Amino acid sequence: MTRAKSSKKSKEKAQPPKIDELANPSQDVLNLTYPDSFINKIVCGDCIKVMKAIPDNTIDLIVTSPPYDNLRTYNGFNFEFPKIAEQMYRILKKTGVAVWVVGDRITDGNKSLTSFRQAIQFQDIGFKIHDVMIYKKKNTPFMRSNAYTNCYEFMFVLTKNKPKVFHPLMEPTRRNGFEMLVHNKKADGINKKIMGKLNEEKVRTNIWEYAVGLGGTTNDKIAFQHPAVFPESLVADHITSWTDEGDIVLDPMCGSGTTPKVSKMLNRKYIGIDISEEYCAIAKERVGAVTVQTHLGVHDQS
Ligand SMILES: C[S@@+](CC[C@H](N)C(=O)[O-])C[C@H]1O[C@@H](n2cnc3c(N)ncnc32)[C@H](O)[C@@H]1O
Repeated sequence: MTRAKSSKKSKEKAQPPKIDELANPSQDVLNLTYPDSFINKIVCGDCIKVMKAIPDNTIDLIVTSPPYDNLRTYNGFNFEFPKIAEQMYRILKKTGVAVWVVGDRITDGNKSLTSFRQAIQFQDIGFKIHDVMIYKKKNTPFMRSNAYTNCYEFMFVLTKNKPKVFHPLMEPTRRNGFEMLVHNKKADGINKKIMGKLNEEKVRTNIWEYAVGLGGTTNDKIAFQHPAVFPESLVADHITSWTDEGDIVLDPMCGSGTTPKVSKMLNRKYIGIDISEEYCAIAKERVGAVTVQTHLGVHDQS
């Protein structure tokens, strides 16, 4: 990325920039134009700079997962949370949704709680914490010698206002058919019962469970060249819940390209950004392999 030539303004006496000016400067992103450089593309670069070229209130859904407490090095790149959060807020549509999937590092028996700190910072910059969901891992959880096995990460669901779309995912109820149900329960303590039909389905809870590893997370062997791929089914479930076909889905730290890949499979427009050229190459390969005939092989929770 090249920098813009200095403008007349910058020759005048330097003033500290206001937040609004920081939010949308064109000088960092001279060679990126929206939408041509973005829609259905994997863009390699620092997402803070790249997102600055996306206009305000543009993105329908963000599904992303940051580096966790520098747990992995990701080829040595730094991570600046506040600037990323600020850009996410600016470019998300007023009716859009952002899903932030995150876990905590344990150092010397002490959980970092970076996840909580980030959630509070999101709230401080204006996001609503629409939900705090759990991504539960069915297998390969992290064993600890003196604490219970860790098997989950948080999925913070962030909004600016009321979401435009909510297509709730359903699951079968444990009992269905006909049963004597309590009816007309009153303070006199007499509970009348009548025959009633139990629902066959109910809205899922906010704890979602996925198998991880090859065949669970994805069937794409190449994806595992990245150290922290999240499950395709997890992304599919969020995309289905919060968007309609044709909507724009962004992952500003897309790693091996899971979010762009699944967006394409589900007929959504995608934008994937990652700072690592190596990971961008993997993402491009995975997205390029999606054809009209491709089906999600790992989409159910059973
Ligand atoms: C947890 S991984 C995401 C993995 C991804 N969800 C997947 O399924 O493959 C975090 C990613 O953030 C990227 N990253 C770190 N800092 C970044 C930045 N400033 N801009 C863009 N990407 C960044 C890393 O290269 C890494 O691939």
